[in-house]
Amino acid sequence: MSKGRILVTGGTGYIGSHTIVELSEAGYDVVAVDNFSNSNPDVLQGIEKIIGRKVDFMEADCTDEHAFGKVFCKYSDIRAAIHFAASKAVGESVENPLKYYNNNLRSLVNLTALMKAQKEASIVFSSSCTVYGQPDKEHLPVSESAPLQPAESPYGRTKQMCEDILRDCVKAYGNLKVTALRYFNPIGAHKSALIGELPIGVPANLVPYITQTAAGIREKLSVFGDDYDTPDGSCIRDYIYVSDLAKAHVAAVDRMLGNRNSDRYEVFNLGTGKGMSVLELVNAFMRATGVNVPYVIAGRRAGDIEQVWADPSKANRELGWKADTPIEDVLLSAWNWQKRISGIK
Ligand code: UFG
Repeated sequence: MSKGRILVTGGTGYIGSHTIVELSEAGYDVVAVDNFSNSNPDVLQGIEKIIGRKVDFMEADCTDEHAFGKVFCKYSDIRAAIHFAASKAVGESVENPLKYYNNNLRSLVNLTALMKAQKEASIVFSSSCTVYGQPDKEHLPVSESAPLQPAESPYGRTKQMCEDILRDCVKAYGNLKVTALRYFNPIGAHKSALIGELPIGVPANLVPYITQTAAGIREKLSVFGDDYDTPDGSCIRDYIYVSDLAKAHVAAVDRMLGNRNSDRYEVFNLGTGKGMSVLELVNAFMRATGVNVPYVIAGRRAGDIEQVWADPSKANRELGWKADTPIEDVLLSAWNWQKRISGIK
């Protein structure tokens, strides 16, 4: 029997698609919404192949209140929403902040208004560790109580503003429950290699750049900086497997629908608890796949945080969830996905 219907905005995106798979496997029905601004309809076929059934889908832009509202007219049984739909390129947000304020804030406001009109109004919000900026050394690993820093980019500011909007709405509207999930660095692809991350153009993120270099699409990887105050001089991040991350969303929905949340507004860090440097990650990729990745040391990238990794103990304890896929398996999944989309045997 179904555990109920979950609305997934940004359902054909990278994390959205993996989350639909985990929700379906956990016994939920889904209605996915996307406007394909940064994804493509083929993703639905990938999801359907994995789960062995159709996904209910409506093409709509969440910033368009009218179009988005039609989803709620058609599906009157929505019990919770997971809100992924947002623009997410840090650099682009500096060049075009209005795109970010329009897309990210307007879609959240519309979703919250539509949800609060429902009997059950539980929202899981995609937030980011970017809200912590560079934590002081005594705050590493970073827990949910670490002080937030002024955002480095309009993208980061939208994540902070969306969290604030949701906190205010929970105070004002008694039927609303929210879980904000602060992701560290999601990487990898579903183990079937049927869905994964589809960067458009030159990838800005590390793992797609590594896999494209391994595939011969890029000549070499630039490691942005080896003179940071870290053991090998390169930046440190907490890389979390996208399918582990997706499972945390299921746990968050289960918790709210089961009335096990201790507050109507909760925040969780989602990471592994282990920091890894850029050079360690590149080496782990070569070890896991046996494929060489040529790289050069380049200058620092503007706006990069030196080091940040999660204290995920609150999520481990309260959500009963842990990111425990070994990094070699995660990197291999990214490589298998790259091979599939590049037609490499
Ligand atoms: N890096 C390289 N070479 C590359 C790409 C990245 O050395 O070609 C390095 C970066 O300098 C950084 C690390 O790899 O040290 C990770 O970079 P990513 O771009 O993959 O990830 P970020 O940590 O910069 O950004 C991610 C998300 C953002 C989010 C941010 C929060 O992509 O959306 O985490 O900290 F805002």
